[in-house]
Amino acid sequence: MFILPDLSYEFDALEPSIDAVTMEIHYSKHHQGYVDKLNTALKGHPDLLKKDVTELLRNLEDLPADIQTAVKNNGGGHANHSLFWTVISPDGGGAPKGNLSEALETRFKSLDDFKAEFETVALSHFGSGWVWLVVDNDGDLQVYSTANQDSPLIEDETPILTLDVWEHAYYLQYQNRRADYIKAFWKIVDWAEVARRFKETS
Ligand SMILES: [Fe+2]
Repeated sequence: MFILPDLSYEFDALEPSIDAVTMEIHYSKHHQGYVDKLNTALKGHPDLLKKDVTELLRNLEDLPADIQTAVKNNGGGHANHSLFWTVISPDGGGAPKGNLSEALETRFKSLDDFKAEFETVALSHFGSGWVWLVVDNDGDLQVYSTANQDSPLIEDETPILTLDVWEHAYYLQYQNRRADYIKAFWKIVDWAEVARRFKETS
């Protein structure tokens, strides 16, 4: 069975960027809901219930056809939120260091240019979805968004930073002001964790 991963901080720890009520509902209702529906979809497939959710998504086409959509949506919801919680932190903000910093500058010219591109993608994304910084199959950094709970893992790419732009992620606190939510996100990005994930891809 899949379970909700522990958070390494309290619900109110990310304030003022993300308030406690938003965090509690997002984690204990929305994320829990994806976990529950993933378990329901995989009922009768004990071999698949033992696998890591990233493995299921990377090999989606190998799964039985009748559960692929449920795993894409709910496994994606589980994997995406699990990543999101780890790349934000009460000790976040600032700027990346080392190899990740150099790679971002090489790819996007500067950290500010990277942030500007990420924000443009986040603001222009229509409807529910996620914004990503991924390492693609050529080892290059890319920024893009996906709809719904679609994960870059399905394309066998490796996400190292993400922002949830579903309204459930910000509407209670920011209402329709997605731009303010995105600005506040930079204050809690855990660059050390993003750098650790980047290093794992090399
Ligand atoms: Fe979410």
